[in-house]
Parts: sequence; structure tokens; C-alpha cells
Amino acid sequence: MSGNSTGDLFRLTSFGESHGPAIGGVVDGCPPGISLTEADIQPFLDARKPGGSKHVTQRQEADRVRLLSGVYEGRTTGTPIAFLIDNTDQRSKDYGAIAEQFRPGHADYTYWRKYGIRDPRGGGRASARETAVRVAGGAIARLVLNAIVPKGVVVRGALVQIGARAIERSRFDWKEVSNNAFFCPDAKTVPLWDEDLAKIRKAGSSIGAVVEVEALNVPPGLGMPVYDKLDADIAKAMMGINAVKGVEIGEGFASALLSGEENADEMRMKKGKPAFLSNHAGGILGGISTGQPVVVRLALKPTSSILTPRKSIDIHGNEVDIVTKGRHDPCVGIRAVPVAEAMLALVLADHLLRQRGQCGKI
Ligand SMILES: Cc1cc2nc3c(=O)[nH]c(=O)nc-3n(C[C@H](O)[C@H](O)[C@H](O)COP(=O)(O)O)c2cc1C
Repeated sequence: MSGNSTGDLFRLTSFGESHGPAIGGVVDGCPPGISLTEADIQPFLDARKPGGSKHVTQRQEADRVRLLSGVYEGRTTGTPIAFLIDNTDQRSKDYGAIAEQFRPGHADYTYWRKYGIRDPRGGGRASARETAVRVAGGAIARLVLNAIVPKGVVVRGALVQIGARAIERSRFDWKEVSNNAFFCPDAKTVPLWDEDLAKIRKAGSSIGAVVEVEALNVPPGLGMPVYDKLDADIAKAMMGINAVKGVEIGEGFASALLSGEENADEMRMKKGKPAFLSNHAGGILGGISTGQPVVVRLALKPTSSILTPRKSIDIHGNEVDIVTKGRHDPCVGIRAVPVAEAMLALVLADHLLRQRGQCGKI
């Protein structure tokens, strides 16, 4: 009811605030016997963690994950898997000046209206610090996918646009993503983004971005029509990531510009098996996976914390001008890439278990 859990059979519950002692989660419903150690989770947290490059917040967090339960001798036991990630570099004094003010674009005002309590320390529960929990849960979800789907499921993401500058599609190369600090799949766009962001940071401003994530080898049949369609659950999971303001699957909004001939994916038999001749649907028809790659894009808004003074009010109704201090990502889209991958893995693992539960086969 209170919105801190996601998934039905494979369920992640997250807890913790930006400036509390720790954040963490509980994964319930993980099948037993799956090989799991902290080393399976850590690389994904390292990809998301702050302080990794000059283009992201300089908050330095080790983001070391500790498994507390649900694992015995390196294998899941079927009982709840609890994990903890300590907060080590919180600096709540950075937020003293805005303790009673509402930062424009942040969740300060809405949390205060909803709960009647103002926790100003780094955005509290609304902080993107919480996304580390999603990434840890997503790492466990990947293990479930790979344990059940014989070929293994590949879930991968990239940053495809910063502000108005998109990558060149013809140069899209997944191998490039790990070669730069932007998760950019187009080597030639990297220096341009570098220049763009240097200017934006110097101006004390920020910028939005588009992230693309895809999953390969997703078995056909995942998704529960009509209210738990796979695309509906993916959209919900992605919209739940901080700063995400738009989600599209397959052609997404561009499909409104296409004709039926252009958009509908035709079929043929290839080597005795059904095959699609294109993938405008983004791997989902009628809320059920087709077996094609599941392709999702998210639009992220520009970071709200900027150095330019902004008009706002405080909890007493006084009008104020706010300059947000503290350490911030000039483009939150960059660190959102591992988070989006994690959310896709979580939804797919949940639907995989649900498919097995209802239909008995994958
Ligand atoms: C990985 C990541 C890092 C973020 N870092 C910042 C940040 O440094 N400063 C900021 O103002 N917002 C940041 N955000 C966005 C805020 O958390 C978010 O805008 C805020 O909680 C309000 O929620 P909403 O934008 O979803 O409505 C980040 C988001 C993500 C996904």
C-alpha cells in the first residue's frame, strides 16, 4: 500500500534515506538454489555509484553491498534476501539553508504536503540514493533470469541523447558503452557530450537526457493481460525512477507518425520457426513478449539542483530565492542507465516467475 515494494512473485522492498546510516532492500520470492554472492551485485552498484567521473555528483560513496540473509553457502535458500548498503559520505549541513524551503523541481513540497514532515537532508527518501537499492535488486533479478532461461537474458542500457544532441544511430555499438563515462554507444559523440557538459557545469546549469534499455532472449509469453501487461509494468517501473518524465516502448511516440504498413511487424517462417521481419513493437504485443528484443526508452528531466537562483516559498509561506548547494549530477540521465537496466530485469524476472506459475512453462 505505501509504495515501497515492486513485483508480485519476485518482490523487491526498499528502505532508507539519502542521509540516514544506510539504505537497503529485501528481495522476497527468489527461487532457491541460485548462486548468489555480494560479488554478483557489486559490479552493477559500481556502475551506478556517484563520484565516478567529473560529469556526475562528487558525493563519494563506496556503495559496498552486504548480504544479510537468504543465502547459504553461496546459494539462495528461498527465504527473503536482505541486503544493506551503508551511507558514508552524507553531508547534511549542505542542506541546512533549505531546511524549511521547497527546492523547485524536487519532491520537497509534495512530501511535505503528503506526510507533513520535512526531511531536508539530501532529498530524504526521494533522493536518487534509493536507486542503488533498485540496482542491487536488479542484479539478483538477472541471476534469476539467467538461471531459468537456458540462453540467459541480456539486459543492457545506453545513453542515447543529452539535451538536443543525440547519438548517430548508424554508429551504435554496444561495445562502446563501457569505454566512456557516459554509457554512450557512439564513440564520436563522446567528445561532443564532454564539451556540452563542461559548458553546462561551468554555467551552474543542468540538462536532460534519453536512456535506452533492451533485453535480449526474453522468452515469448511473458506478461499478464489485461491489467498487468508486460509493457504496462515496464512503463510503471521506469516512470518510478527519479526524474523520468517519459517512457516509450518500441517505436513509442514515433508510431503515431507511421502508417499500418510501416508499423506492424510482418512475420515469416525462418528455419522452421516463426520470425518477425522488424521490431517496431519493441518485443511486446497485447502485453505479452514476442521473443524479440524488448526495447524501452526513457526521457529524464534536467537536474533540478542548479546554481542559478530560483523562486520558491518556505513552509511558513514566505517567498524565497533558492540556490541549491550540495553535490549534484549535472545530467542525471548518465547514472540512470544502470538503474533502468535494473528495473527492466526486475520486471522480467517477476513476469518469468508468474508465467511459470500460471502456465507451467517458459
Ligand atoms: C541517478 C540519478 C541521480 C540523480 N541525482 C540528482 C541530483 O544530483 N540532483 C538533483 O536535483 N536531482 C537528482 N536526481 C533527480 C531527483 O532525484 C528527482 O528529480 C527528485 O527526487 C524529484 O522526483 P521526480 O523528478 O521524479 O519528480 C537524480 C536522479 C537519478 C535517476
